Amino acid sequence: MAKKLRVGVIFGGRSSEHEVSVRSAASVIEAMDRKRYDVLPIAITREGKWLPPAEAAKLLSKGAQALLPKETVTKERGEIAILGDPSHVGLTSFSFNGGPLASEPLDVVFPVLHGPFGEDGTLQGLLEMANVPYVGGGVLASACGMDKVAMKHLFLQAGLPMCDYTWFLRAHWRADREKVIRKIEREIGYPCFVKPANLGSSVGISKAVDKQSLVKAIDLAARFDRKIIVEEAVDAREIECAVLGNDEPKASLPGEYVVYDNSAGFLDYTEKYSKTGRVEFVVPASLPKSLVTKIQKLAVLAFRSVDGAGLARVDFFLKRGTNELLINELNTLPGLTDVSGYPKMWEASGLSYSKMLDELIELAFERHREKSLNQSTLS
Ligand SMILES: Nc1ncnc2c1ncn2[C@@H]1O[C@H](COP(=O)(O)OP(=O)(O)O)[C@@H](O)[C@H]1O
Ligand SMILES: [Mg+2]
Repeated sequence: MAKKLRVGVIFGGRSSEHEVSVRSAASVIEAMDRKRYDVLPIAITREGKWLPPAEAAKLLSKGAQALLPKETVTKERGEIAILGDPSHVGLTSFSFNGGPLASEPLDVVFPVLHGPFGEDGTLQGLLEMANVPYVGGGVLASACGMDKVAMKHLFLQAGLPMCDYTWFLRAHWRADREKVIRKIEREIGYPCFVKPANLGSSVGISKAVDKQSLVKAIDLAARFDRKIIVEEAVDAREIECAVLGNDEPKASLPGEYVVYDNSAGFLDYTEKYSKTGRVEFVVPASLPKSLVTKIQKLAVLAFRSVDGAGLARVDFFLKRGTNELLINELNTLPGLTDVSGYPKMWEASGLSYSKMLDELIELAFERHREKSLNQSTLS
């Protein structure tokens, strides 16, 4: 039998989506084919500290813990890191008493981190430096998928349909509030959505209906980011589509967040990640075939426009009444919990969670091999 692959699953992280990441990682570990992979869980705390596998394992669900190789949860490793120096292969352990560094190979890393410091290209940059294959988007796709303004600029270039938007810096807001409000009222008007450019899970997002609520919404968003985006509010169904692949990506059947009672007026963090019964993810979404094809085409186009790799979930608005399709955003590391849309859409498309993970890992190797064809000198 082929040698098992050692997969480093990194989770937790310094973002408001820490909890979701822990749940996603547990689901990933539970679904991974035990015969093919040995998993080394690596956790990053909210403060940014890296926890070695034995400690990281304790954060996971009992089900996921039970599936880890014994050595993983018992071996004493001291402090750990992945170093940007590729001569220290994989997971490096070091101790404070001046002992030598010890490196353990990792065949591939699976970052299961959402939001800043994980989904945004920062961790991906470290993994590029370390020269280790990793699952998902590279530095560029991750960074552009995180920044809603940069992402929209790329979508615009690709000719993708979007709602009207404008953006400004926190520094501009601090310098001249009236000027910023005038710009928003002139370019967008009410009702509008105010968002920090670089976050996820609806954190810092609110809807403004007049000047007073706009000021409040901007103050809130400005707590989370130096860049703020404001969009026209659309009355629309929320449709999602999963994309998988590298240079020839494929799209799943779309799913839909069906909202039964939403007092917040939009899908906030609580609605998306708890079973309140007010929101249901329905897959496949009830849509005419022609619209499904269009969504899949646009999802792949969006993926290509950010130079995506591995996976992405592309979120759409389907305007009520007109059925106009707009792209909302692309997530390069979508939620991967057992109730998350991304795995559910693949399951509905005939690809089981564990087969999907096999593909993602193979895609990580494929991309790494492809990149290693690059020459680094002129000779
Ligand atoms: N322009 C908009 N019009 C209507 N609803 C919106 C708009 N933008 C966001 N929303 C609502 O807010 C939610 C979160 O916004 P989104 O841009 O997807 O941020 P996040 O990255 O946090 O998921 C959406 O799923 C939707 O319910
Ligand atoms: Mg979203």
